[in-house]
Amino acid sequence: MMLSIFVFWTLVEICYSSPDLAEFECLESKCWCETMGPLIVNIECSSDLDFSVPLHNLIINQTINYFLIKNVIFAEHKNFFSNLEISELAFDNVQLSSMGNLTFKGIRNLKKLMFKNSILTGIQNGTFSHLDLVDIDFKNCSIDDKFMNENHASLNELSHIAHFTMSQNKLSHLNKNWFKNLKIYFLLNLSFNMITKIDSNFFRSMTALERLNLKFNHLSGCLDQIALLPLRASLVRLILSSNQLSCVPVFDRYPNLRILDLSNNSIETLDNNVFRNLISLNILNLNHNKIKYICSDCFTKSLLYLRLEDNYLKRIPSIEPVSSLILLDLRNQNGHLEKLSNFQFDRRDSLLHLKIHLEQNDLSEFAPRSFCSRFGSYLDNFTLSHRTFVNMFKVNRCLFGQLNYKSSYTVRLFVDNGHLIESKHLDGICTCDFVNFIKLSNVLISGIKCGEFECQSNGSSYFDECVREKIYSYPSLDMSYLLFNLELTAAEAHVLTTSPPYIGDSG
Ligand SMILES: *[C@@H]1O[C@H](CO)[C@@H](O)[C@H](O)[C@H]1NC(C)=O
Ligand SMILES: *[C@@H]1O[C@H](CO)[C@@H](O)[C@H](O)[C@H]1NC(C)=O
Ligand SMILES: *[C@@H]1O[C@H](CO)[C@@H](O)[C@H](O)[C@H]1NC(C)=O
Ligand SMILES: *[C@@H]1O[C@H](CO)[C@@H](O)[C@H](O)[C@H]1NC(C)=O
Ligand SMILES: *[C@@H]1O[C@H](CO)[C@@H](O)[C@H](O)[C@H]1NC(C)=O
Ligand SMILES: *[C@@H]1O[C@H](CO)[C@@H](O)[C@H](O)[C@H]1NC(C)=O
Ligand SMILES: *[C@@H]1O[C@H](CO)[C@@H](O)[C@H](O)[C@H]1NC(C)=O
Ligand SMILES: *[C@@H]1O[C@H](CO)[C@@H](O)[C@H](O)[C@H]1NC(C)=O
Repeated sequence: MMLSIFVFWTLVEICYSSPDLAEFECLESKCWCETMGPLIVNIECSSDLDFSVPLHNLIINQTINYFLIKNVIFAEHKNFFSNLEISELAFDNVQLSSMGNLTFKGIRNLKKLMFKNSILTGIQNGTFSHLDLVDIDFKNCSIDDKFMNENHASLNELSHIAHFTMSQNKLSHLNKNWFKNLKIYFLLNLSFNMITKIDSNFFRSMTALERLNLKFNHLSGCLDQIALLPLRASLVRLILSSNQLSCVPVFDRYPNLRILDLSNNSIETLDNNVFRNLISLNILNLNHNKIKYICSDCFTKSLLYLRLEDNYLKRIPSIEPVSSLILLDLRNQNGHLEKLSNFQFDRRDSLLHLKIHLEQNDLSEFAPRSFCSRFGSYLDNFTLSHRTFVNMFKVNRCLFGQLNYKSSYTVRLFVDNGHLIESKHLDGICTCDFVNFIKLSNVLISGIKCGEFECQSNGSSYFDECVREKIYSYPSLDMSYLLFNLELTAAEAHVLTTSPPYIGDSG
């Protein structure tokens, strides 16, 4: 033993003088240590844990930053860690006999405890009562309802904890007793279980919880909101993706909820302004559902990101009130989306540029003012399919001029078929008239290759034609509002004041 301590200290000295040699055998040559700084080590042990003396005789005056015990059967763990200062303790693929009040006895300053891919026989009362953890993780430990019914008393000894993870287990019916006194105040991660039912009092003690992750579970039917109500005041993120929910209720008031993820469920319709009380919602993910219908005014003003990829929408939902929106993802509506209406992407009171994804849809019908704005809202990068692009040209090439009514700002149009499209697939679009028209409209197109050709002039008959058609009347427009809110160029102001007000076409 003297010899091993001697070797250990010698190695520590070598490590201090040579930062390159930071890893060395330690603890009677059974583990690996890594120096993290003066008197701070990481330790990894993955063979038999029988030491001839208590561990604290081998690790003198050192703080263990991270202690990993891996791939072992760990039966004799009583007093194993006593008198050690450990910040983070992790078990990976460890078979632990029933834990009791001596397992973590005498451990100092433990903040994070992780059991991963491990087999836990049981957790007796008193195992955690003397710990002051911030973070506990039971990922993939085959924990089922029976285990929880038998061992929840010891989990409740944790009382105040920031992060609690019990993902990749076999929980199915969340029982109201399990976390009765557990005040998790930041994150509860119960993802990748088999949860079908949550007792209405399950979250009762968690009135400060900010993030709840329930993705990849078996919640089905209409989301039952009752269990979630204790979280109303605190919840910031709610992740319910990859369940089998077919409908969502009118959400109660969750004044701080900013992220709601309902992606990869089976939601078909969004009725009754279900989100109207979510006044702080910034990110709403509804990708990979079966949504056919969305109520008008379904989305709140605060929304920044609206994701609707892979649904069955025939119509694009109204985003007129959603003044903060910066991303609208409508990729792949499974062949249902064919038509754009007038002022389709216009937003009231908006100062933000909107990025739009419309690729994997082949649109063929375009109302004459599809991309026009009544309220002076701007578009940003706009992505669409090759077919849609060609159809726009065929139906009404002035549509391209509508993408950017404010000529000092460039709008980027991405034609996305996964590869660069050569001019032979562009049905005669590649002419000087078109190229100059796009330039004059201050639009940049990526994803197509018109090849090299020289143009005699920089003018465009398309441009002239579209400018001639620029003046439309739009009866519901409130002009004072427009003039007040927009920075108008002289030319635009002229159009507005001398003709029935409307802006949005080219230039
Ligand atoms: C450990 O720390 C104590 C108190 O600071 C000191 O007296 C002792 O010499 C240290 N032991 C070693 C081996 O450095
Ligand atoms: C530890 O648990 C044993 C039973 O397993 C019990 O007899 C003992 O009183 C407990 N000690 C403490 C400090 O709770
Ligand atoms: C879960 O843990 C077991 C060992 O208990 C392991 O064999 C399996 O690969 C782990 N699963 C995952 C998804 O990590
Ligand atoms: C553990 O504690 C709970 C509540 O503190 C108590 O109801 C239960 O009987 C205890 N279990 C054992 C085995 O002592
Ligand atoms: C929750 O657990 C899952 C699975 O273990 C993991 O992938 C995910 O990153 C965790 N989420 C958070 C927010 O910790
Ligand atoms: C969607 O959820 C199903 C299970 O309901 C899962 O098998 C699939 O991998 C998930 N898809 C995505 C994209 O997450
Ligand atoms: C728009 O596209 C350009 C060029 O690809 C890129 O640099 C920029 O970050 C994009 N803007 C947004 C908001 O995605
Ligand atoms: C077009 O070309 C003419 C002369 O070649 C030039 O004066 C004019 O500024 C150009 N216009 C634009 C918009 O580039």
